[in-house]
Amino acid sequence: MTIQWFPGHMAKARRQVTEKLKLVDIVIELVDARIPLSSRNPMIEEIIGEKPRLVLLNKADMADPAKTKQWIHYFEEQGIMALAVNAQAGKGLQAIVSGAKEILKAKFDRMKSRGMRPRAIRAMIVGIPNVGKSTLINRLVKKNIAKTGNTPGVTKAQQWIKVGKELELLDTPGILWPKFEDQEVGYKLALTGAIKDTILNLQDIAVYALRFLEATYPDRLESRYGIKEIPEDVVESFNHIGARRGCLMAGGEINYDKTAEVIVRDIRNVQLGPITFDRVEVKVED
Ligand code: G4P
Repeated sequence: MTIQWFPGHMAKARRQVTEKLKLVDIVIELVDARIPLSSRNPMIEEIIGEKPRLVLLNKADMADPAKTKQWIHYFEEQGIMALAVNAQAGKGLQAIVSGAKEILKAKFDRMKSRGMRPRAIRAMIVGIPNVGKSTLINRLVKKNIAKTGNTPGVTKAQQWIKVGKELELLDTPGILWPKFEDQEVGYKLALTGAIKDTILNLQDIAVYALRFLEATYPDRLESRYGIKEIPEDVVESFNHIGARRGCLMAGGEINYDKTAEVIVRDIRNVQLGPITFDRVEVKVED
């Protein structure tokens, strides 16, 4: 589902997250491991404020493992614990409880020393649409009770889901909006499927993808499409890929829209292997 993020929706989404923040000890911020910065809400720091936070790089199965390690290190350098997970397959989930405990150890030790009764850690999940929030909640409770709808503003009584004895999770995640202002971020969101009914031109997205692949994973370009380089005139690449993949119009001419669609679909479906689009060395401006 694609949400139209109008200013009113953003304000409402922010209000909802801010309200829920009061109820929890920790925020579990979900990002897409392929685009750990581009898939963050642009105001996340401001919204979360001082609340302790655990970052999960989800869909780690679709990201470049070496780059995921770099990203975990990147967050750690900022004093933020980050873990790679695959919510779909349920991989890396045990570490969430132990990570949250570690982050909150000082707070819970203090509570204990003041004679307060031990209780479970209360957490909420936040993230932009499609990063896997519902999938993770479903996995954590091991049954399908989380709603998959993304509609901001659906009011509903808060419910807590128990994850073992030590963690309680709000059953509805906080849904925040993605970044809009940067075109490159838009291409990355489209290539990872975060934006589906794309507001951007599909051919532009495909050109961005080809140039990115040429610069970072040229071997994969070759094995999938039989080309090593993307010439200045990118039409040549489209002609080659379009012909190879049978993207033709009635007269036998190359159908560029279809070719672009094939390229974008291939990337979304991991046909070119796991790819990380955000690079630690080229950080995206917040
Ligand atoms: P959301 O609540 O944050 O909006 O995301 P949701 O859980 O609905 O997940 C979005 C899509 O991402 C789902 O695919 C889900 O299966 C997939 N997904 C979530 N976590 C992972 C993961 O760790 N690895 C992989 N490979 N996929 C994951 P879907 O229902 O098929 O929708 P779509 O693919 O058509 O978007």
